[in-house]
Amino acid sequence: MFQHLQPAPADPILGLMARFREDPRPDRIDLGVGVFRDADGRTPIMRAVRSAEQLRFAEEDSKVYQGMAGDPAFNVAIGELALGPLAATLADRVGVVQTPGGTAALRVAADLIHTARPGARIWLADPSWDNHAAVVRAAGLQVERYPYLDPSRTGLRAEAMLAALRAVPAGDAVLLQASCHNPSGVDIPAAVWAEVAETAVRGGFLPIIDMAYQGLGDGLDEDAAGLRMLAARVPELLLALSCSKNFGLYRERTGALAVLTETGPQTRATLSVLLQGVRNAYSMPPAHGAALVARILTRPALRLDWADELAGMRAHIGHMRDGLAEQLAARGLDLAYLRHQRGMFSFLNVPVAAIARLREEQGIYLLDSGRINLAGLSDVHLDRVASALQPLLAV
Ligand SMILES: Cc1ncc(COP(=O)(O)O)c(C=O)c1O
Repeated sequence: MFQHLQPAPADPILGLMARFREDPRPDRIDLGVGVFRDADGRTPIMRAVRSAEQLRFAEEDSKVYQGMAGDPAFNVAIGELALGPLAATLADRVGVVQTPGGTAALRVAADLIHTARPGARIWLADPSWDNHAAVVRAAGLQVERYPYLDPSRTGLRAEAMLAALRAVPAGDAVLLQASCHNPSGVDIPAAVWAEVAETAVRGGFLPIIDMAYQGLGDGLDEDAAGLRMLAARVPELLLALSCSKNFGLYRERTGALAVLTETGPQTRATLSVLLQGVRNAYSMPPAHGAALVARILTRPALRLDWADELAGMRAHIGHMRDGLAEQLAARGLDLAYLRHQRGMFSFLNVPVAAIARLREEQGIYLLDSGRINLAGLSDVHLDRVASALQPLLAV
């Protein structure tokens, strides 16, 4: 069976993680993998998550199966967090299903599209999160690209993006990130979201929104504003949600897929097909992370504490963005775009050979694409990182 298999190419992000772990230098700095780190370089369990774990330990009275859609209380709460007041307005047309993380939400969404319309293509931003193309191709969908970044990789090519979206045939799907764009930090402004919505309504493509960083850009509602603008206007939409970053639940594999269709009966029929796909793939999602999120979002004291800690994480990222831009400015380099972008990532325009040298000679890890995780930085690193980057960026 397996003799003919050759090793698969290493995932660029997980491969870099492994190299970092094996690097014996105590002062190495990981700015590659997309996890949040606090001022002490740790990825802590959030306070509200700890409290919810204690509550769950005391309250849980059974390990019986939960069902293919996962935890109903989580599904309601996470749908409301994402959609805000629209969750009530659209209640009959929206269904939410818990998934093992945002990645599985994307995979289940792609499987659903493939079932509904086997020839449908999916349009991804150029560039997008590396895993997007792999996940949707694994579901049998063909990938196309729409322009997103300008040649400097620091701003949006809004006109080119909109022109490409206007040409997307009806029945194809277009994936957009809600905020904190991975890998660039370049988000879609409100006026452009309005045009995207208009284009989707006129052209008939299905928008898929990937929201993996709600609350880590400008705020919980602010980061969902584009999504909500679209959801209020389009007939159909898929929304992939991740609790990995904003609840710090990475390994607990906690996420959801929300489905919006034109009518209640259509949503129920679509969910039944979706859940059949879930049953065939992994049967049902794991309970733990969703049980924590449900408790956090439905108990006011926990929710306040979580939102407060999340605001602190957001402020830390902003502080690191400002700090790196300042340190580089002091060395004669203008990277003010770092301050204006949002979320954990931005591009540094450093050649790939220099990124390898940075890793080997200085123990500073970035992705080969030049993506830097600003949430991996801390005050104690800024001077060293800026000094190491200065000659590379000045080229
Ligand atoms: C843009 C984007 N979407 C989705 C995900 C999925 O996250 P997870 O499967 O860990 O919930 C990530 C994680 O890095 C991401 O960056």
